Amino acid sequence: MIFLNKESTKKGKIMKTISIINLKGGCAKSTTAINTAALLAMKHKKRVLLIDNDPQGNTSQFFGAYDENTLCGSAEILINKEPSNIWKVLEGVNLIDANMTLLEADNQVRSSMERQDNRLAAFLEKKAADYDYCIIDNPPAILMCTINALCASDEVIIPVTLDNWALDGVEVITRQIEALHTLNQKLKIAGILLTNYKKSIENEMAEKWLRENCPYKVFDTRIRHSEKAVAATYYKEPLEKYSPRSAAAVTYRKFVKELQEIENGI
Ligand SMILES: Nc1ncnc2c1ncn2[C@@H]1O[C@H](COP(=O)(O)OP(=O)(O)OP(=O)(O)O)[C@@H](O)[C@H]1O
Ligand SMILES: [Mg+2]
Repeated sequence: MIFLNKESTKKGKIMKTISIINLKGGCAKSTTAINTAALLAMKHKKRVLLIDNDPQGNTSQFFGAYDENTLCGSAEILINKEPSNIWKVLEGVNLIDANMTLLEADNQVRSSMERQDNRLAAFLEKKAADYDYCIIDNPPAILMCTINALCASDEVIIPVTLDNWALDGVEVITRQIEALHTLNQKLKIAGILLTNYKKSIENEMAEKWLRENCPYKVFDTRIRHSEKAVAATYYKEPLEKYSPRSAAAVTYRKFVKELQEIENGI
């Protein structure tokens, strides 16, 4: 499926690939990947390829694009095959699915003698004219598929839900990303995104510390906690559709606008 719009067919426009990553579990990586992809398409009229790169398959399950008995698209890419199915999940958003077969492919590829880190990059190079953005939802672990995502990405966004261990988590992932610079010199840390944010004295202090001490950009927008974010997973709808006035939807809109403004140099 090819989506065309005037802006994206302008000469020189190329797909931007963004990995959503943190080795800490449950910090809203999938929620951020899903809602960022949805908003780029729905509000900013971008053509988006969303890649579920996590064997848990949460993003695929979210969109009802999960079949545990079939070799998933992200596993196919890892073993150098063309994905047999790319799911159209929203107007302007196509999805490459994941399930546990990605973990099997990951193990298989690790024992191969051939080069393993550049398979997703090679696949995305072929797709660069069809999309404005590729958003990759990553697992909370450094697997070969995670290394492939970092080798294929222009930027990473690190979602962080504040707690006492969150700040150590930022240090761990940023160190891993810096270590990968030899494999992908163009890779940049776009910024740290505070997610599932609840106002409390402790969170305000942790946020202040992070903004003052973190050597990377911390996005101005904080994604607010909202029960609607959990409910939306049952209805399989991005927040913009399910509950556009919820605090989480409002702040995801604000975040994607901030991201676009940074990109456009505003
Ligand atoms: N803004 C929010 N408000 C309330 N709940 C949220 C919000 N963002 C995420 N959640 C909930 O937090 C939980 C974890 O979110 P999510 O699955 O996106 O995290 P993850 O980082 O992808 O987890 P994993 O490491 O397992 O892949 C989910 O139940 C999700 O619905
Ligand atoms: Mg996830």
